[in-house]
Amino acid sequence: MILCDKGLFTLHTKHTTYQMKADRHKVLLHTYYGPRISGGDLSYLIQYTDRSFSPCPNEAEADRTYSLDTLPQEFSTCGVGDYRLPSLELELDDGSHLADLRYADFRLEKGKYALEGLPAFFGGSEWETLTILLRDTAAEVDVELLYGVLEERDLITRAVRICNRSSRTVKLCQAASLCLDFPQGNLDFITFDGAHAKERCFHRSPVRPGVESVGSVRGTSSHHHNPFVILCTPDADEDHGLCFGAVLLYSGNFQAAVEQNQLETPRLTLGIHPYHFSWTLAPGESFTTPEAALICSPDGFTQMSQQFHRAFRDHLIRDPYAGKRRPVLINNWEATEFHFDASKLAAIARAAAPLGMELFVMDDGWFGKRDSDFSGLGDWFVNEDKLPGGLEALAPQLEGMDFGIWIEPEMVNEDSELYRAHPDWAFQAPRRAPARGRMQLVLDFSRQDVRDHIYQALRKVLDRVKVTYVKWDMNRSLTDVWSATLPADRQGEVFHRYVLGLYDMQERLRQDYPGLLLEGCSGGGGRFDAGMLYYAPQIWCSDNTDAIDRLRIQYGTSFCYPISAVGAHVSAVPNAQNGRMVSMETRGVVAMGGTFGYEMDLNQTSEEEREVIRRQVAFFKEHYDLIQRGDYYRLTSPLDNGPYTAWEQVSPDRREALVSLVTGNLRAAEPFRALRVKGLDPALVYRVNGEGAYPGDVLMHAGLPLPMPWGDYQSVQLYFQAI
Ligand code: DGJ
Repeated sequence: MILCDKGLFTLHTKHTTYQMKADRHKVLLHTYYGPRISGGDLSYLIQYTDRSFSPCPNEAEADRTYSLDTLPQEFSTCGVGDYRLPSLELELDDGSHLADLRYADFRLEKGKYALEGLPAFFGGSEWETLTILLRDTAAEVDVELLYGVLEERDLITRAVRICNRSSRTVKLCQAASLCLDFPQGNLDFITFDGAHAKERCFHRSPVRPGVESVGSVRGTSSHHHNPFVILCTPDADEDHGLCFGAVLLYSGNFQAAVEQNQLETPRLTLGIHPYHFSWTLAPGESFTTPEAALICSPDGFTQMSQQFHRAFRDHLIRDPYAGKRRPVLINNWEATEFHFDASKLAAIARAAAPLGMELFVMDDGWFGKRDSDFSGLGDWFVNEDKLPGGLEALAPQLEGMDFGIWIEPEMVNEDSELYRAHPDWAFQAPRRAPARGRMQLVLDFSRQDVRDHIYQALRKVLDRVKVTYVKWDMNRSLTDVWSATLPADRQGEVFHRYVLGLYDMQERLRQDYPGLLLEGCSGGGGRFDAGMLYYAPQIWCSDNTDAIDRLRIQYGTSFCYPISAVGAHVSAVPNAQNGRMVSMETRGVVAMGGTFGYEMDLNQTSEEEREVIRRQVAFFKEHYDLIQRGDYYRLTSPLDNGPYTAWEQVSPDRREALVSLVTGNLRAAEPFRALRVKGLDPALVYRVNGEGAYPGDVLMHAGLPLPMPWGDYQSVQLYFQAI
């Protein structure tokens, strides 16, 4: 997979090749990333020209064609001649802000590197790791570029370790996880953006001169932008064109920036956002960036997404939930919000269990004085006014379903026992009153003592009864980020230390409660990222449970993240977020585009609706592997304003497929349409919903006539099974 030959490094995956070369001045150049090629030294593609105002390194002497400003760099520097996006910015104790990296050595190993305290893809001998050592000799700083290669999945992971080898203090002002130059130019930039209740909407535009970036400075990866981006050729669509997906395994401030320079060759950098970031390295200390991962697909978005999905399922989501079935859950939030007691919960459970639901999730409101969002956060003990006898008394009333609870450990209300005892544990800067979000403050999770206190309180709850699931919520953006435990010149570390603290807490939960299913959440999908998935195999996708809005949200999410990660529930109508009426059938079909569960008071449904639910749950369980682990195809886009949105899952052996289809706003006199199915075996013959006999090649190339839709927001599921 990885070939190293006198400073030439070639990484081959199943469909792609990636190449770098240390040149005559020991600058590590990026020479190629694209469809798999046989090999050779591709540095012949680099053109050396004299560009005015592009300085030349001292050792290039009279060679005016050699400039860091014009050459494709593997990990860009700053202040020494490259004016494009930097990957590394150092501040030395002499006040200089320069970084100049030259190739020193490399190491090739079997297996995949790990990153202490940070999420990372994992695996065994199917991986190879290449470590390239770069050195800034003046600063005496070593930079290790780590590359993990998973050939079968076309996955190349990257992380960077920066080590201060000098006897002086060095400050990092910026440290990207990934830098990628695209000498071929002419690319589109795709990002996934939105807001609370409309996360990860697909946006595409041509890369233009200057810098374009998305990111977050909210302390979380955010509802507003996602740490996953695509660069692609203008002709790229689901089945054609070259595309490059880049994802950051990180749940805090991030930046994905693309710069088109004077030569019209874009550069992508991805990593921790430089806003209010700095890290002090004492002599001998090192800093490790979060991991980034790349997949290049020569054949469009579908192949890229499927490769990400497989890699996430098998090499990021950890046991026992890598392969284990997740339960169909019933959650009480939209049914009750804070206003419940044990008998109300028991009544919801009594209605849910006979319909096949397996896990009861008690959401916000069960602890402290938590009757609204004004109070209670931080007080992690059961509110016995609502739940007399505590969890021990409630659990037996759940009709044999497993028991899950909601927590929001990073937060505190000023009206809480915790805040009254430790007001200084919430983020606040000297002489400023902190901003509130949802009437709550953020605990300083960069502090071990704060984390320990919260963790011990949570343990007392979790040890009372068997809790098999925890929903870890986080309901505001960070402000007033200042930590009492760090000196003034190290406050730039707090945002990152907060994320490390979060990962530490979740890792402790994983270790102490093996088998616990953690669901991530941040007001829906405000922290829906690959970093979180390392700890929480599923994440509540959005607080917007309207099936029609969800089509767009789940569509955008699917470009990177697998179905099994996408928390999706059927909720009541009219929908709580937009008042829309959608049938139970369609709500179920859309929730099967994710982990599938219910979030409503089933006692408020009719007998007919309960029969629909019973059938949905049975169908989901019967086809669980196909739905959750099948290869995912986006058949149409909800953004096209067409008559329907359709998607499909195909089993790895291609003997089964499920097409789901939801109509949008209908127009009269729609033309007749056929649906061409994807990914089937052309040599097999399929029954559709138990009927007919259609050759796979016919279904894929000629298709099936679609039923003429009647009424907005109708849905159809077509199950294909090889005979
Ligand atoms: C936001 C979450 O996204 C909701 O599902 C719910 O858990 C509320 N928080 C509870 O406060």
